[in-house]
Amino acid sequence: MGSTPKMKVLDCLAPLFIACLAILGCTQAVTLEVKEGNSTCIKAELSALLFITYTTFNSTASAQYSACVESEKRLLFSALHALLCHLMNSLVFSPQSNVSTSLPDSTSVDAASSSCGAAGRPPWLVAVFGSGHALGLSFAKNGSFYSVTNLTLQYNLSDTLLFPQSNGSGVVTVVSSSVGIWAPINTTYRCASPTTIRAGGAAVTFSAMRLEAYMPGNDLSPAESVCAADQTTTTAPPTPTTTVAPAPTPPGTPATGVFSVTNSSGTVCLLAKMGLQLNVSYVSQAQNKTVQELVNVNPNLTVTSGSCGSTTASLVLTQQTTTLNFTFSMNSITSQYHLSGINLLANWSDMTAPFSASNTSLDYLRSTLGRSYMCNTEQTLLVVPAFSLNTFRLQVQPFGVTASQFAAAEECQLDQDQMLIPIIVGAALAGLVLIILVAYLIGRKRSHAGYQTI
Ligand SMILES: *[C@@H]1O[C@H](CO)[C@@H](O)[C@H](O)[C@H]1NC(C)=O
Ligand SMILES: *[C@@H]1O[C@H](CO)[C@@H](O)[C@H](O)[C@H]1NC(C)=O
Ligand SMILES: *[C@@H]1O[C@H](CO)[C@@H](O)[C@H](O)[C@H]1NC(C)=O
Ligand SMILES: *[C@@H]1O[C@H](CO)[C@@H](O)[C@H](O)[C@H]1NC(C)=O
Ligand SMILES: *[C@@H]1O[C@H](CO)[C@@H](O)[C@H](O)[C@H]1NC(C)=O
Ligand SMILES: *[C@@H]1O[C@H](CO)[C@@H](O)[C@H](O)[C@H]1NC(C)=O
Ligand SMILES: *[C@@H]1O[C@H](CO)[C@@H](O)[C@H](O)[C@H]1NC(C)=O
Ligand SMILES: *[C@@H]1O[C@H](CO)[C@@H](O)[C@H](O)[C@H]1NC(C)=O
Ligand SMILES: *[C@@H]1O[C@H](CO)[C@@H](O)[C@H](O)[C@H]1NC(C)=O
Ligand SMILES: *[C@@H]1O[C@H](CO)[C@@H](O)[C@H](O)[C@H]1NC(C)=O
Ligand SMILES: *[C@@H]1O[C@H](CO)[C@@H](O)[C@H](O)[C@H]1NC(C)=O
Ligand SMILES: *[C@@H]1O[C@H](CO)[C@@H](O)[C@H](O)[C@H]1NC(C)=O
Repeated sequence: MGSTPKMKVLDCLAPLFIACLAILGCTQAVTLEVKEGNSTCIKAELSALLFITYTTFNSTASAQYSACVESEKRLLFSALHALLCHLMNSLVFSPQSNVSTSLPDSTSVDAASSSCGAAGRPPWLVAVFGSGHALGLSFAKNGSFYSVTNLTLQYNLSDTLLFPQSNGSGVVTVVSSSVGIWAPINTTYRCASPTTIRAGGAAVTFSAMRLEAYMPGNDLSPAESVCAADQTTTTAPPTPTTTVAPAPTPPGTPATGVFSVTNSSGTVCLLAKMGLQLNVSYVSQAQNKTVQELVNVNPNLTVTSGSCGSTTASLVLTQQTTTLNFTFSMNSITSQYHLSGINLLANWSDMTAPFSASNTSLDYLRSTLGRSYMCNTEQTLLVVPAFSLNTFRLQVQPFGVTASQFAAAEECQLDQDQMLIPIIVGAALAGLVLIILVAYLIGRKRSHAGYQTI
């Protein structure tokens, strides 16, 4: 196999390109949108590096091969000569060349091929660039998640600028159906780390990627689902698989976070201050059995979103692959509100399947419009048998927030009970002091009387 100096240079450049991409993010970022009417259904912001291997044709070697075959005709039955020609033939056609190119700024969406998923077609984003090249992503969804089902790369070998000395010509299409890009519906998939997807003789490396399909609005959802590669910096190193998994250590009390939702005019309309702990039972991959795990929500890693209405409001907290959705309802007749629904979507690395739990008929955190609800004492909110939520130092106000501040609080029964304890103890102590005092006074009176009799 011959490898020309030029090819060696390309070979060295490819990792360099990828390194530069990972560290400096120096490839161009493109924004691609698929629309139907005025509404956007797929949006992607990404950088992509394409790495394509193709067969080159060497005209010099070809001429030599022709000459060889010509002479072979004369030197019939010469096995050695046949072998020589065969070797030469491999020189003519076999050299593989590698080319690296990034998705250029001029990349655009091909509206004719792209689709939002009407008429039974899956949603499909087709980006075209250069001379007849294209990159396509097709999507599918189930109840809770959407995913990229396949990646299609089309490259035009006739483009001699990109593919010099190519033996082939015309458009080559390669498809990969194991892409591994997925996220909960109504969240944006985010992956800063480079992710390489191989398809045929090509590889596509995405980086600085933000993408969403089945979009509820015209912009990427503020709630993000961060890819596993980006999470390795924040999660603990995996435990060796050969040893028995250690018993999970209790995580301690969670940090208190302040979460707020703003309405379309930018005013804070929902306020919450709380420490949250998830208590989830799921089938562990490492232990091959159901485990119960307590996981604290870290407010520093949480992305807040939600919505406000006159009778319902929602608060959505997303931390990496965990999405927690609170729904509050208002009874406009009694002017009372309560927490009516909790929904949890979680996809932790140890889970055999993504965890989803929802209960929309809850009655927790009941309070009155114009007031906030407060509960400093730990409270356990049972959602489904496999999932309950522990709250700490909680104060929420889902309706009627003014000036970004909590209104006067209505305190929970647990707090009132907690406050009753010192009162009871105090009252008991006071009673005791009173009894001693009375006993003392009676005693003094008696002894007084005693003196008088002497
Ligand atoms: C092209 O890339 C492939 C895969 O990275 C590598 O194995 C091969 O040696 C490269 N070939 C040349 C000629 O650079
Ligand atoms: C799209 O937007 C334009 C201008 O904003 C408006 O005139 C048109 O009716 C809209 N079309 C649809 C289908 O909403
Ligand atoms: C073409 O083949 C000849 C040998 O037949 C070799 O010396 C030369 O380097 C090759 N050129 C390219 C561009 O591959
Ligand atoms: C492929 O590239 C050639 C040369 O640039 C061009 O003439 C041809 O139209 C391209 N093919 C497609 C399908 O665009
Ligand atoms: C990839 O997705 C496109 C669009 O959904 C579809 O037309 C094509 O058949 C798919 N290819 C494979 C191999 O699944
Ligand atoms: C939904 O899709 C996700 C991502 O592809 C997958 O992991 C999950 O198992 C699917 N859930 C169901 C219920 O099919
Ligand atoms: C190179 O191209 C010729 C003619 O187009 C074709 O017969 C041959 O199979 C190709 N060789 C390779 C290795 O692709
Ligand atoms: C996504 O958001 C839209 C609009 O906000 C809503 O109608 C839909 O139910 C949501 N879907 C899920 C799975 O949460
Ligand atoms: C946003 O909330 C403020 C205060 O509650 C209210 O005055 C304003 O009308 C709201 N804006 C919208 C668009 O609902
Ligand atoms: C998991 O456990 C089940 C029964 O408890 C067993 O049938 C299965 O083979 C186990 N799987 C692995 C991968 O250990
Ligand atoms: C959150 O960030 C603050 C300031 O950066 C830090 O003091 C605190 O320890 C962090 N909390 C957690 C739970 O990581
Ligand atoms: C949260 O739940 C509410 C009510 O069920 C729903 O409208 C909203 O779309 C959900 N949000 C997310 C991000 O799932």
